[in-house]
Amino acid sequence: MAIIKVQKGTKDILPEEMPIWHFMEDTANKIFTKYGAKEIRTPIFEATELFARGVGDTTDIVNKEMYTFEKSERSLTLRPENTAGVVRSFIENGMHRLSAPVKLWYKGPMFRYERPQAGRQRQFHQVGVEVFGISQPTADSEVILMAVNYLSALGLNDLNVEINSLGCPKCREVFKTKLKEAIKPYLSELCPDCQTRYEKNPLRLLDCKVPECKEIYGKPEIQKVIQSDYICEDCAQHFNELKGYLDNLGIKYSVNKLLVRGLDYYNRTVFEITSNNLGSQNAVCGGGRYDSLVKNLGGEDVPAIGFAMGMERLASLIGQREDVKTTAFVVCNDSLQGIKLTEELRKNGITAEFDLTNKKFVKQLEKASKTAKYALIIGEDELAADKVTIKNLETSEQKTVNRIDVLKELA
Ligand code: HAM
Repeated sequence: MAIIKVQKGTKDILPEEMPIWHFMEDTANKIFTKYGAKEIRTPIFEATELFARGVGDTTDIVNKEMYTFEKSERSLTLRPENTAGVVRSFIENGMHRLSAPVKLWYKGPMFRYERPQAGRQRQFHQVGVEVFGISQPTADSEVILMAVNYLSALGLNDLNVEINSLGCPKCREVFKTKLKEAIKPYLSELCPDCQTRYEKNPLRLLDCKVPECKEIYGKPEIQKVIQSDYICEDCAQHFNELKGYLDNLGIKYSVNKLLVRGLDYYNRTVFEITSNNLGSQNAVCGGGRYDSLVKNLGGEDVPAIGFAMGMERLASLIGQREDVKTTAFVVCNDSLQGIKLTEELRKNGITAEFDLTNKKFVKQLEKASKTAKYALIIGEDELAADKVTIKNLETSEQKTVNRIDVLKELA
């Protein structure tokens, strides 16, 4: 009988990968909690209208990528991202009444019907943060700090932080008009998607990946508009203050005027964090300010800013970390002694394994060196003298200690 395979663009996360996933999740809890953020879990499907109104009906996500289905004459959609869901919950649960800022973090699966490739899946996972209630750039700098410090706690420091300001709806209109004017002579040469974007969402023209379109947007008269400081005085001051905070906090960043992001809800600050080690899908984090979304979805006038990171992309950067290994592997031919020592270690918070199949000593040592940091060897001599040899499997240094001192030594 033909076997049923995993769906295109989806993946099993297998037991051997789990330590990295727990590490990402535990670190998120630890770091975001330090900033006063509380975890929130919202449903995986929501009313389709939430994303149409929230993410924006001119975006690729809403137009092409949603998993939408009907149940009891209701149109439902598997969440393609979680900002809209968190905002819905914020409004529905009256969180605007809590003292600002309200900081929430989440983790979980998202669904986008995209062409799968390395780093791009149809079911993927995000870990993210949303901060409500603060319009000042202090919140923008704190949110960027949360992202950078989380990545750093994962051991990921070699990343590029890019920021931009999209301005407010007023100054953005001026920019859109100027951009359209400059692009108009080339309209017929643009790809079909850009022809639609030109009418519906001209800002999105700037992150088209089609080489012919990119060449047109690189023309001097179009670059002049893109590189101009079109944002109004208030938005410019907001952006300058943010840059000042980042400079003083020692966060390295660059300003990328082409950074417009693929979702409609943003205003003012947008940012992305990319890695040079990920190929074409190189963004590990995307975020920005969305001051009108709460109101647009029927809530109070509450400003907000947040980000989300792709966990599969983080996992591939983290790779096989040392601390993902078991701390101790007990190598012993006397099963009962082996189990006793392993259990004692576990009770004292040390991850420990023992060979349950009673293989030969050499085989047990081989397994230990592949999976653990230390081998705790109880050979015949050790057994007779009530001792244990502790072997550091990285340096091969070893030391024989009294059985009762093992815990102390490992600590
Ligand atoms: P986004 O840029 O669409 O933003 O996604 C954030 C991150 O999710 C990306 O940088 C990437 O790492 C990961 N990601 C997106 N699509 C895929 C995919 N198909 N496969 C694997 N990873 C993917 C948002 O989702 C916004 N909600 C972020 C936000 C929160 N803005 C404000 N608050």
